[in-house]
Amino acid sequence: MKSTRLLLPTLGACLLSLIASAPVTATPTAPSTQPAVHTFVIGQDDFLLDGRRFQIRCGELHAARVPREYWRHRLQMIKAMGLNTVCAYLFWNRHEPRPGEFNFTGQADAAEFCRVAQEVGLWVILRPGPYACAEWEMGGFPWWLLKHDDIQLRTRDPRYVSAVRTYLARVGRELAPLQVDRGGPILMVQVENEYGFFGNDAAYMGEMRQAVLDAGFTVPLFACNPTQQLRNGFREDLFPVVNFGSDPAAAFQKLREVLPRGPLMCGEFYPGWFDTWGAPHHLGNTEKYLGDLTYMLEAGASFSIYMAHGGTTFGLWAGADRPFKPDTSTYDYDAPISEAGWVTPKFELTRALLAKHLLPGETIPAAPAANPVITFPAVTATACAPLFANLPAPLTDDTPRTMEAYDQGYGCILYRTTLPAGPAATLSAKAAHDFGFVFVDGVRVGVLDRRNGNFNLPIPARTKPAVLDILVEPMGRVNFGAEVHDRKGLHGPVQLTVDGNPGAELTGWEIFRLPLDGAMLAGLRYAATPATGPAFWRASVALATTGDTFLDLHGWGKGVVWVNGHCLGRYWNIGPAQTLYVPGPWLKVGVNEIVVLDHVGPREPVLAGLAQPVLDELRPRLDFTKNLRPVMTLALAPEKQVHTGTFPAGAAMQEVRFAAPRRGRQFCFEARSALNGGPAATLAEIDLLDAAGKVISHEGWTVAHVDSEERTAEDGVAENAIDGQIVNAWQTEYHDAQPGFPHRLVLSLGQPREVAGFRYTPRQGAGDVPGRIKEYAVYVGDDLATRQP
Ligand code: GLA
Repeated sequence: MKSTRLLLPTLGACLLSLIASAPVTATPTAPSTQPAVHTFVIGQDDFLLDGRRFQIRCGELHAARVPREYWRHRLQMIKAMGLNTVCAYLFWNRHEPRPGEFNFTGQADAAEFCRVAQEVGLWVILRPGPYACAEWEMGGFPWWLLKHDDIQLRTRDPRYVSAVRTYLARVGRELAPLQVDRGGPILMVQVENEYGFFGNDAAYMGEMRQAVLDAGFTVPLFACNPTQQLRNGFREDLFPVVNFGSDPAAAFQKLREVLPRGPLMCGEFYPGWFDTWGAPHHLGNTEKYLGDLTYMLEAGASFSIYMAHGGTTFGLWAGADRPFKPDTSTYDYDAPISEAGWVTPKFELTRALLAKHLLPGETIPAAPAANPVITFPAVTATACAPLFANLPAPLTDDTPRTMEAYDQGYGCILYRTTLPAGPAATLSAKAAHDFGFVFVDGVRVGVLDRRNGNFNLPIPARTKPAVLDILVEPMGRVNFGAEVHDRKGLHGPVQLTVDGNPGAELTGWEIFRLPLDGAMLAGLRYAATPATGPAFWRASVALATTGDTFLDLHGWGKGVVWVNGHCLGRYWNIGPAQTLYVPGPWLKVGVNEIVVLDHVGPREPVLAGLAQPVLDELRPRLDFTKNLRPVMTLALAPEKQVHTGTFPAGAAMQEVRFAAPRRGRQFCFEARSALNGGPAATLAEIDLLDAAGKVISHEGWTVAHVDSEERTAEDGVAENAIDGQIVNAWQTEYHDAQPGFPHRLVLSLGQPREVAGFRYTPRQGAGDVPGRIKEYAVYVGDDLATRQP
């Protein structure tokens, strides 16, 4: 960090001035509740707080994922776990819902959150964005950026950079006064987030850094990246920290390649992981977590536990992992502090461990009492407001466009046109983000499903013109990779094909915007008749006392829930979560109103309040799309094979170059044996390289075929191999079946690509992880896997 050392003399000068002005205090292990100016710098070997070594023991907590009434409770829990700092993202889309319209009040009052942290005795590490990831809608980016058809996010696209500067300048107004050198708790500020995963443009990071500086932040600035991407976009003037879920020794060794000297810090250390709909609930390995934490403590390294407390992604804010794995609303994350803020065994174990590593004079307070929990017996929703009977005035358009084009950010959108009389046909759209429920004269005929990229649907014959409705339900915008350019709704054109002959494009559309906001809910017209199609259902619950509870949604299909106007989030009967967390402060003594939007219709419109969450109950048979993997025919002719080889043991990423590049729309990785000799295979990540040795973007990639994936005992789906995260992995079946080799994964690259090599990242973890691949072959071509008719 030459720049810091260079700065040191000047830093010395400013230190002197600061010391002169600062009251003389003992070593502060916690910010004093009364604002006092402190100094925090990155020293040659350590973080220095008022000139003394400071080990950051941090935990991540998102104010947006905790009801404001519970911020203090959760921050006290973090303190009681033995941590001295809280790390918090800001989500741009929450603070600037429309260009130039800012919100830093109520649940979005970031300054108040920092003040409460200070009062509780925690320092703050601020991660203002502009991009956050975090399984949050579009990674924190505001949807309105996508109104520019060709905007390139996370680049030096001037439209993007100027919007970022406006936002960060506003953040600075709110939070710069709360920096440690101005009496507040903020020690450090992060620039961007894991940019190395996305690009390699150091000048871009320079612009982001400058925007943070121009916003008034004077404390040290840093950048976080995963182990393998630390060099991408690296800048000497941004202190690097490394993110990892295992093997701290190897990760810090990698960090030393870009930071020969200076304090070691893990910016995100994962005790658990997030859940996506339809995949098993994630549980971390507590023993490994404690072992790695011990290693870091004894190494004198600093760290941030991601997440110390996950909380809940209320509203429609849950994002989607790439290529498209929508995140659940619960963000329990198997974190030490549970979704409802409860002490867990992992909390106790972490507290006990940290108690052994306190700085002189430091103590750990007792955990605050848990908030009250209530239950209530099942109630039936009796009032119904069918969606089709509660439509707003429509817009019209010749070709359907995405929501953003109609100035709509969130909610649902209905596209309606007339189908001519005619024979049975196939309806096809370029894409539907994310689920297109298709109705002909009000009868549901199928679902366009982004999970398997199936945007074709059989349509019955019609003796007379019929009304075609396509109700598109977007889940959150993808929060990772180039896929954040995730425009929701229908991607036209929409066509009818009869007997394989492409017919005319369907035109003359009515567009109904359904923002699912307070105004829309207030305008719904309810009736006592139960609906069959998509509808809002209303129930009343009379409570004598209030407290936290978990809404049981087992009887429902798929949609969104509101309690007393608060949007709790999304639910989906396939699981793994079957409940939604209801914070006590959102309930009241007396009659409470629960509204449930159900797109597919309840099997039983009943709701109950449970004392415990249900986070791990998968029900794949309830899925409206039976085969998420279309049946494919493989054609792996020898001439399409471009390379064979053998991988060595260990967790290190392997880079393979072909003798000659090969062009194709598909790439097949064929595992032929495992290093442990067993029948199963696993791998964390595959990246493809172009002729220049550059990583090819994963944008538009989908899994065309996979012979086997574990979906019961763990989330071993094939998409894990291309989601950019090395913390999860594609894992072939071992629970219900043990199919043997060869194991094949065929990727559709979305367009023809010149492939000159690839990178294989083995499943991570210390020691010999079962299923790591030994012998393999790869194929490149256009039709390695074709969909059976
Ligand atoms: C990354 C991101 C975080 C979060 C985690 C996964 O490392 O930086 O925002 O998405 O992965 O939970």
